[in-house]
Amino acid sequence: MHDLWIDLLQLKLPARTECHLNERLYGAIRDAILDRSFSAGARLPASRELAAGLGISRNTVTRVFDQLTIEGFVESQVGAGTYVADVQGSIVQGAALHEGQPAAPPRLSQRGRRLASRSSAATQQWGAFMPGVPEVRLFPYARLQKRVARVLYTATPGVLSYPEQAGSMVLREALAKHLRVARGVQCDPPQIVIVEGAHQGIDLIIRLLADAGDSAWLEEPGYWGIRRLLEVNGVQARPVPVDGEGITIPLHSRPPRLMFTTPSHHYPLGAVMSIQRRRQLLAYARQHHAIIVEDDYDSEFRYTSSPVPALAGLEPDAPVIYVGTFSKTIYPNLRVAYMVLPKSLAPHFQRAYLDVHRGGHTAMQQALGEFIESGEYAQHIRRMRGVYRRRRDALSALVEARFGSQLLSSEARDSAGLHLVLRLPSQIDDAALSHTVAQHGVLTRPLSRYYLGDAPSRGLLLGYACVAEDEMKRPFDTLVECLAKVL
Ligand SMILES: Cc1ncc(COP(=O)(O)O)c(C=O)c1O
Repeated sequence: MHDLWIDLLQLKLPARTECHLNERLYGAIRDAILDRSFSAGARLPASRELAAGLGISRNTVTRVFDQLTIEGFVESQVGAGTYVADVQGSIVQGAALHEGQPAAPPRLSQRGRRLASRSSAATQQWGAFMPGVPEVRLFPYARLQKRVARVLYTATPGVLSYPEQAGSMVLREALAKHLRVARGVQCDPPQIVIVEGAHQGIDLIIRLLADAGDSAWLEEPGYWGIRRLLEVNGVQARPVPVDGEGITIPLHSRPPRLMFTTPSHHYPLGAVMSIQRRRQLLAYARQHHAIIVEDDYDSEFRYTSSPVPALAGLEPDAPVIYVGTFSKTIYPNLRVAYMVLPKSLAPHFQRAYLDVHRGGHTAMQQALGEFIESGEYAQHIRRMRGVYRRRRDALSALVEARFGSQLLSSEARDSAGLHLVLRLPSQIDDAALSHTVAQHGVLTRPLSRYYLGDAPSRGLLLGYACVAEDEMKRPFDTLVECLAKVL
């Protein structure tokens, strides 16, 4: 019998030439046990006998037996030999029930099915005219990289271990100063939580402040990403129309837990929330114990006037969570964003962030903090304002030369942000047009996708930030050709 086993192992061994002899012998015995060539309870050849039969050293065999014993494939008793363990019991029991049936694919949860059925993220993220994507080719990477290298070189073990706080203190201190000056937000570093993208921050806000079945206001039209996060968390998204003064306030409906808004530059149409609307929204939130989530995604880019101060800075202790991101000012793949929380909420978010996300990348965060503190961040933003303004003017000129000014949304004239909205007649299927244009290599987003309800207007979002002036003409002509076929 043992001769047969040795023959079998000899057959199995050469097939695994790329592995070390130990691993090959281990694999051969393990496979023979799993496929029941060696049945449970059978005694394996003694190590000396097996080594001689296979022409290998006895040490190799004993090492392999030891490993198989640790993993439970065999049982050894001193002086009594090595026996095949009953590893088949549980496998065979489970398998026997389904013999002959194909294995069922793993099942998604209800939440998973909701997530998977309506994916909204674009599968291509770079190219003309991808909305929301900044110019990533002009960032002074070497300067930031030098700082990261220095931080890592001088890092104390504490910086390299698991994070003790929700973000580097150097970055939070730099941000507190920067936000005071640049956004009018008065805050202290303990109120700031650093997250890996505004998306992650908004997910944490929803999880910590809303229960399944609660509701949240979303601007209509509004950012699809927040809608998805609400859906996944079982929170009802209530679309609230936006007019020329920002989000309207539906006074007679049930108050929500959360109100998501983009007051400095409505996404995607561009309105700035008026001071009257800001006051009303704050009063409403205080009265109904709701929280406003201010998504300040691209307020740095306003080209013909000063940046509009943040809603969060309008009143002391405002019921507002301010969310900012480096995705548009540095580059999206950096995945660093920040939230400024009301003082009473901040400790809960700090702890929850460490439990749920753990965080990390402290060296990069510290380098970013130094980059802000040195003035280089503000300098980069100033430079990019000039770049984007020229690109915006170039794209507007192309649109106006071809279609006149009636297709550009009126908000386009306020000269801010990273995209234009090309308005289309309401009979045009903007989603189908966007799809056709994408097949010709031009990326856009259909305006109708930003509505939760029926879209009252159609259009295409054209991002100009990631397209240099001399790269615009060709994709624009492609867009015009596709559009001409449906107009
Ligand atoms: C309006 C708006 N809010 C938030 C985000 C998400 O930002 P982040 O890249 O930090 O997750 C985006 C991204 O495009 C956005 O357009």
